[in-house]
Amino acid sequence: MKIAVLSRNPRLYSTRRLVEAGQQRGHEMVVIDTLRAYMNIASHKPQIHYRGQALEGFDAVIPRIGASVTFYGCAVLRQFEMMGVFPLNESVAISRSRDKLRALQLLSRKGIGLPVTGFAHSPDDIPDLIQMVGGAPLVIKVLEGTQGMGVVLAETQKAAESVLEAFLGLKQDIMVQEYIREAGGADIRCFVVGDKVIAAMKRQAKPGEFRSNLHRGGSASLIKITPEERMTAVRAARVMGLNVAGVDILRSNHGPLVMEVNSSPGLQGIETTTGKDVAGIIVDHLEKHATHGQTRTKGRG
Ligand SMILES: Nc1ncnc2c1ncn2[C@@H]1O[C@H](COP(=O)(O)OP(=O)(O)OP(=O)(O)O)[C@@H](O)[C@H]1O
Ligand SMILES: [Mg+2]
Repeated sequence: MKIAVLSRNPRLYSTRRLVEAGQQRGHEMVVIDTLRAYMNIASHKPQIHYRGQALEGFDAVIPRIGASVTFYGCAVLRQFEMMGVFPLNESVAISRSRDKLRALQLLSRKGIGLPVTGFAHSPDDIPDLIQMVGGAPLVIKVLEGTQGMGVVLAETQKAAESVLEAFLGLKQDIMVQEYIREAGGADIRCFVVGDKVIAAMKRQAKPGEFRSNLHRGGSASLIKITPEERMTAVRAARVMGLNVAGVDILRSNHGPLVMEVNSSPGLQGIETTTGKDVAGIIVDHLEKHATHGQTRTKGRG
């Protein structure tokens, strides 16, 4: 097969591993810098150009779209879909999961366990917002944040009120969430491919910290997940419409709670922690499913 990897940087671990795994299996792998691709969207024959040439003959595309390029990246991916190229994850599914409010609403509608969560922009009654999600302690998140930045634990009602007041001034969308204390500063990353969790790792926050992000000094280790956790992760990916997803789960007293469904999960942490050839499993999945013109939505929606 001829497979495109949409990625801003061919030197990134995940990109390199996908190219390697594809080549090992005899495929032609082409890395395309998402932001440099340009397209003719009005023609009868949808086209993508790159470095002065039309991209042609691709069977599949692996989107590795960073959060900051979601909008343009999804447009390029959609163009591939319109050309009948099979996407590992569809553009609609990626947009869905990138919109955290929409994603949690969809998961909630399908009955998937979530921490009690509120969303607000400029709440006119902060004490009522706090009470609505069950009161302190609360985790307050600025929606734009990543890698644990903009995620705050407010232990008391007073702290929650002042953090919310401070965020209010920033005119940001905010998430207010029940604090899952019993998770003990750990979360579980379940790596889903197709309808299976093919690898899982536990991320543990450093002492005195509740955020398990590796960028914040957290450490990753192997973990055996329960059948319920497995099922929750697979269902969450399916609700988003993602073939490949990193589902982040908190272990609570009342079962697994989904924190986030990531549409371009990184390979480095999960491969080094579990020793699994995740890139290879992804390419195997493409081999099984990539048939020309088989995009379910054909870029619609
Ligand atoms: N409701 C919660 N209860 C307990 N711990 C939480 C809760 N929400 C988040 N955490 C901890 O804080 C960490 C960071 O939170 P989260 O993943 O929501 O933000 P982020 O990593 O900044 O965003 P993103 O994952 O979108 O990049 C989580 O990995 C988890 O360890
Ligand atoms: Mg996170």
